[in-house]
Amino acid sequence: MVYRVGLLGLGTVGTGVVEILQRPPHPLLQAVEIAAVGVRSLDKPRLVPIPPECLTTNLEGIVSDPEIDAVIELMGGLEPARSLILKAIDHGKPVITANKAVIARYGEEIFQAAAQARVAVLLEAAVGGGIPVIQALQQSLRASRIQAVWGIINGTTNFILSQMAQEGSSFAEALAQAQAHGYAEADPSADVEGWDAADKIAILASLAFGVSVPRQAIPCEGIGSISSTDIRYAREWGYTFKLLAIAQRAEGQGGEPTLDIRVHPALLPVTHPLANIHGVDNAVWVQGDPLGQVVLSGPGAGRGPTASAVVGDLLILLAHLQTGAQLPNPLWGFAASPPVASLLPLAEAQSEFYVRVLAQDRPGVMGAIGTCFGRHGVSLESITQKECHQELAEIVILTHSVREADCRQALAEIQQLPQVAEIPSLFRVLR
Ligand code: HSE
Repeated sequence: MVYRVGLLGLGTVGTGVVEILQRPPHPLLQAVEIAAVGVRSLDKPRLVPIPPECLTTNLEGIVSDPEIDAVIELMGGLEPARSLILKAIDHGKPVITANKAVIARYGEEIFQAAAQARVAVLLEAAVGGGIPVIQALQQSLRASRIQAVWGIINGTTNFILSQMAQEGSSFAEALAQAQAHGYAEADPSADVEGWDAADKIAILASLAFGVSVPRQAIPCEGIGSISSTDIRYAREWGYTFKLLAIAQRAEGQGGEPTLDIRVHPALLPVTHPLANIHGVDNAVWVQGDPLGQVVLSGPGAGRGPTASAVVGDLLILLAHLQTGAQLPNPLWGFAASPPVASLLPLAEAQSEFYVRVLAQDRPGVMGAIGTCFGRHGVSLESITQKECHQELAEIVILTHSVREADCRQALAEIQQLPQVAEIPSLFRVLR
């Protein structure tokens, strides 16, 4: 048997896929032939040898070619990726994709089309690079009621934060290094602003909770506001900064699941399982009943690991071809039309907070700040004066777990105090 595959995109991951298939690590893969590779430019130098007759700029031709058995979409971006995926499905071809942006926004449309056409759409490479987290949530962990999924699921930002914490690099230096390693997306704002992580947690939440997640409603904050001062103070208290993607059941839910889904930087105690994930590594921490806690970790970005996840999906397709069994819909198990999750507004979420205030170094300032917090029901764990800069004292506050809206209202009042110059930092502390 020859299994003819059409590849859309020959960038970092596409190149990695070709490399693996040139030296197939599993006998089933010996049947695979890369029949066509869709690219933007035929003249660009390539890192892997591809017969020139396989290269084409006619991507529509690949997805509608009756000679092609399966399509691997590795172009990224929303369009034309979404339309090409749908067209491939329409032509009865299974699709493997690493495109978290498309799946997070158009997953429902794509999987309904796939169910109708009775073809598989596989997406292991869309989240967590080489970590088999999609398969795990889709199958192995399904016997448990999942309570929470927390992830470090953006390698670029984890690399940047690790460089800043361990090497004392500036944000700009660390970002340049991440780009030089090929981790960052072409436009690094998707990584740095947390949008990439939000796409990925939308997908993980769909799997874990069996719902459709409105991607645009996920609150999302990036890492640009983390300063070396905050990193230093956090370390003194035994915390480290991580960009966390969170999806968890909210308390007091009624009929349909209410989920607390968000992406933001947070201080984690250095003893937390996610605190010791460094560099480009990713990790996903799953808590469920009766499962307990599971952490999956490994390389979360880059050519080899992501290509490995793509080729793993190809092996699943080939194995199912042999048995003739239909693959389940990866996002909602077998539900044809999943409920849409209602998301807890961020203002209602409960967290501990780290706050850094710049204020005049005078008697009564700490008391005034404490009183504002108290007025809004915000209980404090500690309030400490740190360094003084040009007559302004740095005051760092750690709160107990409070409603976010209450903390923000207290801060709005603190900002109005005549002795307060600025509130440069506000971060959540998770544990
Ligand atoms: N740019 C992504 C990251 C890799 O840094 O994790 C692809 O998802």
